[in-house]
Amino acid sequence: MKGEQATVSIEAAQSGIRPLTQDDLPRVIELERLGHSHPWTEGIFRDCFKDSYRAWGYVSENELVGYAIISYQFDEAHLLNVCVHPGFRGKGLGRELLRRAIAVAIEDDLACMILEVRKSNRAATLLYRSEGFQQIGVRPKYYPGPSGGEDARVMELQFT
Ligand SMILES: CC(C)(COP(=O)(O)OP(=O)(O)OC[C@H]1O[C@@H](n2cnc3c(N)ncnc32)[C@H](O)[C@@H]1OP(=O)(O)O)[C@@H](O)C(=O)NCCC(=O)NCCS
Repeated sequence: MKGEQATVSIEAAQSGIRPLTQDDLPRVIELERLGHSHPWTEGIFRDCFKDSYRAWGYVSENELVGYAIISYQFDEAHLLNVCVHPGFRGKGLGRELLRRAIAVAIEDDLACMILEVRKSNRAATLLYRSEGFQQIGVRPKYYPGPSGGEDARVMELQFT
């Protein structure tokens, strides 16, 4: 390197929430398989890159470690999926993703957010309750699983 000027470009490591893109799909599918007993297929994720959807990713030091997918229908935002890499759970990332989804739905003038959650999913249920979601119903055998399926709690957060 004598006489040459070495130019070293060090990009600052990026962390935080940003919109998901289709380029994220391989990593999203990897996270999905780690997070869910019945993971979504790539085709389902591809359908979520439309105007009536919002898709957020959580990046830690340039690596995608979580995501949230929301669909909009009439005045309702529907939280379809939220998932955090097992090694990054319990650090507030799921809550940050949920809060971003809610904040943007409010900015987009929607009236409420609804979601389904497996009855056995204590961590997710506690997260939703702590953000103000209330149970408004049950969908029997909504999720695939042993003994004919598992019930879903339907939860709602009214924005006003
Ligand atoms: C549900 C999920 C997204 C939560 O993400 P996370 O980043 O670990 O959650 P946070 O660290 O933001 O925790 C937020 C709250 O959730 C609840 N929570 C999270 N993990 C919990 C656990 N293991 N046990 C009990 N409550 C838990 C707590 O109320 C927590 O608040 P606190 O830290 O003040 O106690 C994550 O567990 C996950 O990806 N699970 C697999 C996929 C899934 O089940 N998605 C939901 C489908 S409806």
